Amino acid sequence: MIQIKTDEEIEVMRKSAKLAAEVLIMIEPYVKPGITTNRLDEICHDFIVSHDAIPSPLNYRGFPKSICTSVNEEICHGIPSDRKLRNGDVINLDITTYLNGFHGDTSRMFHVGSARKKISRLVDTCKESLQRAIEVVRPGAHLGDIGAIIQKIAHEKGYSVVREFCGHGIGRNFHEDPQVLHLGTVGEGVEIKKGMVFTIEPMLNEGKPDLEILSDKWTAVTKDGLASAQFEHTIAVLDNGYEVLTRLEGQTVF
Ligand code: MF3
Ligand code: CO
Ligand code: CO
Repeated sequence: MIQIKTDEEIEVMRKSAKLAAEVLIMIEPYVKPGITTNRLDEICHDFIVSHDAIPSPLNYRGFPKSICTSVNEEICHGIPSDRKLRNGDVINLDITTYLNGFHGDTSRMFHVGSARKKISRLVDTCKESLQRAIEVVRPGAHLGDIGAIIQKIAHEKGYSVVREFCGHGIGRNFHEDPQVLHLGTVGEGVEIKKGMVFTIEPMLNEGKPDLEILSDKWTAVTKDGLASAQFEHTIAVLDNGYEVLTRLEGQTVF
């Protein structure tokens, strides 16, 4: 069942979502060659709890850490570890906060040290696909419109779209209905209504869409070992459009 949020609930969700967005700003200067993903996890954990919130991933279905750190060919749900980041790596940091009874969920890519040109194109295309998908959100549109635009942009640039993971409703629960697929057909799927709050979080692969889950039971990696990129926002549906709850004042995309 899709839970429709009242204006008052959306106001509370704004705060949780903004905190998640602030974590991504706060952590940026630390994402440098030599830092471990465990250290990034620790810094984000401490920032979140010092703002009276809880990192939603911690102990979620047995997830052992506070954030997800997915490097290079890792698609999503990477577990922080003693792995040191190296110059030229790309990493997705996925931050979810629980504050005043509601979750906010956002993720973005970071280049570690100098950006590699081939990877930049993938990262920029993924970011653009999220932005263009957000722009179709309004009452009366359909969830299929979101998948269709992401698919179109990805395929035009020669990338594939991961099928196994999708965006999701979010609110008092980390993951709620509906599922927001990143592939689709215009006009198909659930009709979007005012008061829905959901994430859009496309994962684009440089090569084939196929994935594997590592023996840690969480980390999804590309089967062909080529790079993957992901960006995520939490979006509320308003009377005549959308609001990106995980976007701070003055931010255009991230
Ligand atoms: N934040 C992820 C999402 O966007 C979910 C992570 S689940 C975890 O839906 F357990 F790995 F944290
Ligand atoms: Co999410
Ligand atoms: Co997330």
